[in-house]
Amino acid sequence: MSATLPHLVPGSGLTQNDPHRPDLHRNDPRQKLIVALDVSTAAAAQKIVAAIGDSALTYKVGMQLYTAEGPQVVRDLVASGRRVFLDLKYHDIPTTVAAAVHEASRLGVTMLTVHAAGGAKMLHAAVDAARANNPALLVLGVTVLTSLDENELEKVGFRGTVRDEVLRLAALALDNGCKGIVTSAHETAAVRAELGHNFAIVTPGVRPAGSAHGDQARVATPAEAIAAGASHIVVGRPITEAADPAAAARAILGQIGS
Ligand code: C5P
Repeated sequence: MSATLPHLVPGSGLTQNDPHRPDLHRNDPRQKLIVALDVSTAAAAQKIVAAIGDSALTYKVGMQLYTAEGPQVVRDLVASGRRVFLDLKYHDIPTTVAAAVHEASRLGVTMLTVHAAGGAKMLHAAVDAARANNPALLVLGVTVLTSLDENELEKVGFRGTVRDEVLRLAALALDNGCKGIVTSAHETAAVRAELGHNFAIVTPGVRPAGSAHGDQARVATPAEAIAAGASHIVVGRPITEAADPAAAARAILGQIGS
């Protein structure tokens, strides 16, 4: 991908995979936006990233693109100056998850996900593996998928409300060293109220006001998600399927401000 993907231009804010670059202002709204590259080829991903240009800094590589194209797609994004959120939602025995996190950190990803439901030992192993390789790597605990409602939760054995389950899994993730969680905007305010502000909340299920909901069960607008306490929003199709992805990204940046 790097062969034809333009490097982020100097002054656009980010030229290295370093979240603490002094030239990137903390209040730059691009710090809060993650664009989901849910496509099946590196070429399609590259087209989107090139079209977005410097209107986004961070891209989510999830299981579709990773399964289709493998780690090279991540290496190429990192080499081009983008940050990568590797959303593979690891959930396995601690040794296996630690080994996967070790490999992910070697790819240079900035953020990655593990299922909080994997339990304390697995979360700890993931955090330790991340720390050993890259102390700045943000390990995020996935709480409850935004597509699940209480009926579905009960079928998989969770007895509480969505809110209760999110709070329980978020606390478990944070208690075991995760520096952030993934949850829907609808639970974000409750998580902030119960667990504080000293960690990241990454929120998918974000739709610009007035757009189609698709398969997102618990949606919010970008402004609502940030107002509820999200530190980052994940937006896919409203940007990647837009006629002008850069304009769509900029419109969202305008809604979340600084
Ligand atoms: O719907 P959109 O294209 O914005 O999805 C972006 C990301 O949000 C997806 O990669 C997916 O992981 C996540 N998502 C989710 N729950 C859904 C739909 C999507 O968490 N119901």
